[in-house]
Amino acid sequence: MIGVRRQTQIYLDGVSGRRPPIPLDADRLEATARKRMRPEAFDYVAAGAGNERTVAANRAAFERWRIVPRMLRDVERRDTSIELFGQRLPSPFLLAPVGVLELAHPEADCAVARAARDTTTAMVFSNQASRPMEGVARILGDTPHWFQLYWSRSDDLVESLASRAERCGCQAIVITLDTTMLGWRSRDLEGAYLPFLHGKGIAQYTSDPVFKRLITEDASPSGSEDPQPPPTLAALRTLIELTRAYPDSFWRTLISGRGRAAVQRFTQIYSRPSLTWETLAYLRERTKLPIVLKGILHADDAARAADEGIDGVIVSNHGGRQVDGAIATLDALPAVVEAVDGRIPVLLDSGVRGGADVFKALALGARAVLIGRPYVYALAIAGRTGVREYLQNLAADFDLTMGLAGCRSVAGIGPDAVLPAPGLESASRPFA
Ligand SMILES: Cc1cc2nc3c(=O)[nH]c(=O)nc-3n(C[C@H](O)[C@H](O)[C@H](O)COP(=O)(O)O)c2cc1C
Repeated sequence: MIGVRRQTQIYLDGVSGRRPPIPLDADRLEATARKRMRPEAFDYVAAGAGNERTVAANRAAFERWRIVPRMLRDVERRDTSIELFGQRLPSPFLLAPVGVLELAHPEADCAVARAARDTTTAMVFSNQASRPMEGVARILGDTPHWFQLYWSRSDDLVESLASRAERCGCQAIVITLDTTMLGWRSRDLEGAYLPFLHGKGIAQYTSDPVFKRLITEDASPSGSEDPQPPPTLAALRTLIELTRAYPDSFWRTLISGRGRAAVQRFTQIYSRPSLTWETLAYLRERTKLPIVLKGILHADDAARAADEGIDGVIVSNHGGRQVDGAIATLDALPAVVEAVDGRIPVLLDSGVRGGADVFKALALGARAVLIGRPYVYALAIAGRTGVREYLQNLAADFDLTMGLAGCRSVAGIGPDAVLPAPGLESASRPFA
């Protein structure tokens, strides 16, 4: 049983004077990462939209539920595994798609993939990854992996990314719906910093044959005649960054201007605000993989997803990065679960910070959760080791919470395992 094993290992290490390489407390993990990261990189990861009220609401929603442990139920043998799209995962959590991981660590997605393989944790590749999916998939081997797609303005690019994901052995395609435009992120705006404009987080594009073709097509017919401002030192530095980011020789890229052209093309096509339910049929016709919609918060959208033959939904508000003042995901979950009525799996992310949070989400009807910022902080602190330690700790924490609450398996975590905190009895329950 992973919980006890992990605990014992940590305490025994302590006898020999060894301490865990990353903090186990979520706030200390974030604070330690902050010290290790460049300020603009930390802000990019930590930021929420506007006044960051959704970030706070996600956490507050978990605080409004209490676990009610049951006794004398023989929890010596426990099984934390779940089944998702025909695959068994050892714990009910996955690594959420997080872009621009190079901001946290130079090995970026590769380090995360190694940690995922070490712990058999499913990883969702970001459309804005720092490394092309092919190499990351090679590292993962048999470890489950999915691909997350931002629906581009170019259907050809959508098709190309989806078929690359299939060839990489991805077992599902997650379409993120909540980022048809970037949210109003005050921290990033104050620092005037967007990593993509520095050539970071666009590896899935610069490694794509369709995207390469799109770069060579005339990207910006207007504006070329406008007077150009004199180049500044910062602009020159950025030009070097962009040139380095392009997967070709530095000088060839500099002379051809491909680095800058790639970023320019990316900003023009990366997302499609006009996306509708009808658009999704395009991908349904082109892939046999399960399609999962990420960013669902309304029961009607969830019901429609199930009606339209979508294979799963993720209740997510993008970690509070898109709409300030949005509904917390745990608050949205019960109605979504009810609307879907067991037809497709419902997953949840945003604000999950420990085993108890995983337990509460499962009790309210989620099949699994996705972990976002905490693994990025662990990556920033200790690379692959940090992410591996984080995942092992979370699995152990969940296992012990489950057992101590009186549940032997995930299936045993029912709605009666939680109650609204005193004074908050009106919190909605999944199965009244
Ligand atoms: C730095 C950062 C980058 C992200 N990049 C993506 C992305 O490329 N695609 C996506 O669907 N979600 C992305 N997300 C959202 C996560 O998948 C997830 O929904 C969110 O982090 C969950 O909230 P949490 O960080 O509070 O756990 C990103 C989140 C962060 C913090």
